[in-house]
Amino acid sequence: MRLTRLSLHNFRSFTRLDVEVPPGNTLIVGPNAQGKTSILEAIYLLATFTSFHAGQDRELINFVESRQATAVARIQAEFERGGKPHSLEVRIIKERDRQGRERVRKQALVDKAQKKISEALGHFNAVLFLPQMLGVIEGSPGDRRRYIDLALSQAMPAYAIQLNDYNKVVSQRNALLKQLQENGGDKSQLDFWDTRLAQHGAHIIHTRILAIQELESAAARIHHELTRSNEVLRMDYRPAYDPLPTPNGQRTLLDAPVDRRSFTREKIESGFLAALAASRQAEIWRGSTALGPHRDDLRFLSNGIDLGTYGSRGQVRTTMLTLKMAEVDWLHQRTGHMPVLLLDEVLAELDTERRADLLDRLGQWEQALMTTTDLNLFKPEFVAEAHRWNIREGRLES
Ligand SMILES: Nc1ncnc2c1ncn2[C@@H]1O[C@H](COP(=O)(O)OP(=O)(O)O)[C@@H](O)[C@H]1O
Ligand SMILES: [Mg+2]
Repeated sequence: MRLTRLSLHNFRSFTRLDVEVPPGNTLIVGPNAQGKTSILEAIYLLATFTSFHAGQDRELINFVESRQATAVARIQAEFERGGKPHSLEVRIIKERDRQGRERVRKQALVDKAQKKISEALGHFNAVLFLPQMLGVIEGSPGDRRRYIDLALSQAMPAYAIQLNDYNKVVSQRNALLKQLQENGGDKSQLDFWDTRLAQHGAHIIHTRILAIQELESAAARIHHELTRSNEVLRMDYRPAYDPLPTPNGQRTLLDAPVDRRSFTREKIESGFLAALAASRQAEIWRGSTALGPHRDDLRFLSNGIDLGTYGSRGQVRTTMLTLKMAEVDWLHQRTGHMPVLLLDEVLAELDTERRADLLDRLGQWEQALMTTTDLNLFKPEFVAEAHRWNIREGRLES
């Protein structure tokens, strides 16, 4: 898959940008705060419809435009998939409702036809690598869930829909638990929400089990190469509701791999429902939902050691590179198309050897866009062959 044209309108610092995107590798070069990362952010939005940066969509709309009562940021793209041309557009719209309250919404158009966001997912795929993604390994379980959810949603739009529904059920169920905690009442009101939680939750757990196992096999192979056969990487999925309970809930560092692939969705659903029934009173005391995929974790183990806790800086960086390359392979296998690669100031984060590994692999991929403040990080041969965009104050020179 490859992006052929990108147009931005009132997106971040770009009031207007319109550029043809070449195949192969493009280096986006310029000093800090010139809009390099924003270009990658815009492209990633076409794949996920969510920003990797902004807490809120309104931040994506250009500051000046945003002063208007109605303001629109627009990302338009043309791309090729399987040799056929397609187009995609995302609009971020800020407007006022009849009561004068401000609201921000998103619109998506696929091949010029308006679609729900869930239907627009999966047309264009991208893998993004940011230096702060080391947080996926070292950070909170929430960071890891986000990594998995963004990767899975792109390849499996049905997963994104389930996730969205699931999250709504969790917040409604939490509101009811809180009410039962504070005021008491008929506990059987929970039955309805338990059923829905188990339904959507089982879908998510089941998908995560299979996809994490697939990602793990791609990652293990790549990690073996990147560490010159010194390290064996494992991705250890730890569902909060585990269809395969471990004795006393104990896990040790050197746990043998657990295979949950034999569990059907129905089996997970009925087990989850039973677990909810068993923990009902505890959840009412707590006033929130304790069990389910919104509390899952995923650990990365190298030679049996948990990298989140014991990984050296170098190991964590190499593992992150592994995970990103595995994401590319996995998306390729799943969708039949090579995703576009987006690398933000990544080279500065890697040691010389990993840098060479990454640049070698870039040659095998269809298209990559990478930002840098410093061209010296790249081998001269690489710079000579790559396309270059110089960027300054929101203007781009090809
Ligand atoms: N909504 C917005 N409207 C206008 N400018 C913005 C907006 N959001 C961010 N910026 C500006 O964009 C610049 C940051 O762009 P960024 O893509 O991070 O630059 P780079 O990656 O080149 O360092 C900053 O100067 C910031 O003030
Ligand atoms: Mg940047």
